[in-house]
Amino acid sequence: MDQPFIVALDFQSRKEVEAFLRPFVNEPLFVKVGMELYYQEGPNIIAALKEQGHRIFLDLKLHDIPNTVKQAMKGLARLGVDLVNVHAAGGTNMMKAALEGLDAGTPSGMARPLCIAVTQLTSTSEEMLHHELWIERPMEEAVLHYASLAQESGLDGVVCSAREVPLIREQCGTAFITVTPGIRFADDETNDQVRVVTPKEAQKLGSSFIVIGRSITRAADPYAAYARLKREWNEEES
Ligand code: C5P
Repeated sequence: MDQPFIVALDFQSRKEVEAFLRPFVNEPLFVKVGMELYYQEGPNIIAALKEQGHRIFLDLKLHDIPNTVKQAMKGLARLGVDLVNVHAAGGTNMMKAALEGLDAGTPSGMARPLCIAVTQLTSTSEEMLHHELWIERPMEEAVLHYASLAQESGLDGVVCSAREVPLIREQCGTAFITVTPGIRFADDETNDQVRVVTPKEAQKLGSSFIVIGRSITRAADPYAAYARLKREWNEEES
């Protein structure tokens, strides 16, 4: 997985996805398909994207009893996606079951999809953590604890804020994958993201993969925006 950019295909229909991807016909991307698109279009959208050469992060954030997650993951692995995820809040047994399902469903000769965990959603505030979820520890400790649980369960990494990456790398090592959304170009609007970083900042913080959505998908010229992303990422600092 040398490509460090994951483009979030937050669209509702295959038609919109096709229109967006048209300029990228000779530039296979690493794309993220989330609930919005998958629940509308189903497994066919994955087959279509794979046919066009794109790699896929299927972002469905599974969270259920271990056996259900295992069986669901078996099916997702058969789709041939590259990366999937679960909520670490489902616990160690659920995360281990996810891996068992992925192993069982991976077609022979293919690599098992990488599996990462959501630690705490970035929409969860410190206040919500304490008063709604009744988790008494500070957010940072809760995130690090969930990252460790994911690692101990055998998962490949976590989804987190780029700002959390240095601590997670310190605790879990540099081979543990960090996938970080909340990325904006310096002159972009932040939209509903609260704490954003630029691609270069995410790189400096040590993100393994950055997830970038609207800065590319809603750009006047998405192909040019993607080219800018690559240029900024590869620019040497003066
Ligand atoms: O458009 P934008 O770059 O904000 O898109 C970010 C993508 O990453 C969206 O698909 C969003 O759902 C996802 N995401 C996020 N924060 C998380 C987990 C996922 O923004 N903690």
